[in-house]
Amino acid sequence: MTTPSWLPLRANLQELTPYGAPQLPSQAQLNTNENPYPPSAQLIAKIADRIREVAATLNRYPDRDAVALRSALANFLNEQSKTALTQDNIWAANGSNEIIQSLFLAFGSGGALGFTPSYSMHPLIARVTGTTWEEGARKADFSIDIEAACAHILRLRPSLTFVTTPNNPTGSAISLMDLIALADSCANVAGLLIVDEAYAEFSQDLSAVTVIAQHPHVVVIRTMSKAFAFAGARVGYMAADPEVIEAMLIVRLPYHLSALTQAAALSAIDFRDELLSSVHEISTSREEVAAELSAMGLRVIPSSANFLLFAIESPKTIWQSLLDQGVLIRDVGLSGYLRVTIGTQSENERFISALKKSLGGKQ
Ligand SMILES: Cc1ncc(COP(=O)(O)O)c(C=O)c1O
Repeated sequence: MTTPSWLPLRANLQELTPYGAPQLPSQAQLNTNENPYPPSAQLIAKIADRIREVAATLNRYPDRDAVALRSALANFLNEQSKTALTQDNIWAANGSNEIIQSLFLAFGSGGALGFTPSYSMHPLIARVTGTTWEEGARKADFSIDIEAACAHILRLRPSLTFVTTPNNPTGSAISLMDLIALADSCANVAGLLIVDEAYAEFSQDLSAVTVIAQHPHVVVIRTMSKAFAFAGARVGYMAADPEVIEAMLIVRLPYHLSALTQAAALSAIDFRDELLSSVHEISTSREEVAAELSAMGLRVIPSSANFLLFAIESPKTIWQSLLDQGVLIRDVGLSGYLRVTIGTQSENERFISALKKSLGGKQ
């Protein structure tokens, strides 16, 4: 769409189109890396009870600083990673996309660096917030050459360096040792290392939250949308040094996180064991789907997340053919590749058999 000449849209936005994966009807929705398992009847009841309580106070603004939620999130990370974080280390928002936007608003003046392919919202939000974005390179196997990346940081001196681990769309993880090397380079140029850990719960690697106390230049982004199976509620959060959090408060909109969202998120955190119980099953299914794809002669990128990137000829034709069979996966715009989210057992089977048909029964 071209912008009408009478509309005073910012010049830096004029060539852009709204971001978003197609939301199309399908029997197997395997395109946005959600958790396929809906909340249990008990959790639904718990959320409904809490929302009913909060509904009685909806004439009032919510807790602007979301103290109870931040404290519950800190405890959750402490449980998972044996850290000693408090609410002062945590900020929460409407999905981690809002966290990313706030980071750019607060700290983006010195430009940002990221390593492509990665989460496409990082450069897009950079652009929307008027932040200069530089693409760093990855190796042919999609891993990051850490020495080259550190040299890039020292040369460019960005105020923000983004890495995603496990990476979306490739699924590959970065070791904590490599993250520390990147963090040291960022500290050298007075920049922040932003570690987007949207899929961390699926990975065996130690989380970067474990180094925040020693490395205050490290900011970790997390979300309840993936392993936590709570995408519809829109809750993302970050863990960082308290001084980083304090600075973030300058750009947050007052009362940005509704009382309903805070209440629902607190209920979900109470049910964390149940919500995260599918992580093991999804990881096991991921390996089974990867083995099936390999057996079909397709090259699969090793993944530590709840999705797989695989190489395929004519991805656009295959994507459409899968959709015609009721299976929605993701064309991430990476030439020669498609990405599939791991679903339930029956969704995965449906995907594999549809893919076999799409490939013309060559397997
Ligand atoms: C790497 C990464 N970061 C952040 C997000 C945003 O998640 P949300 O805004 O639902 O928390 C996603 C969603 O796909 C993602 O893949």
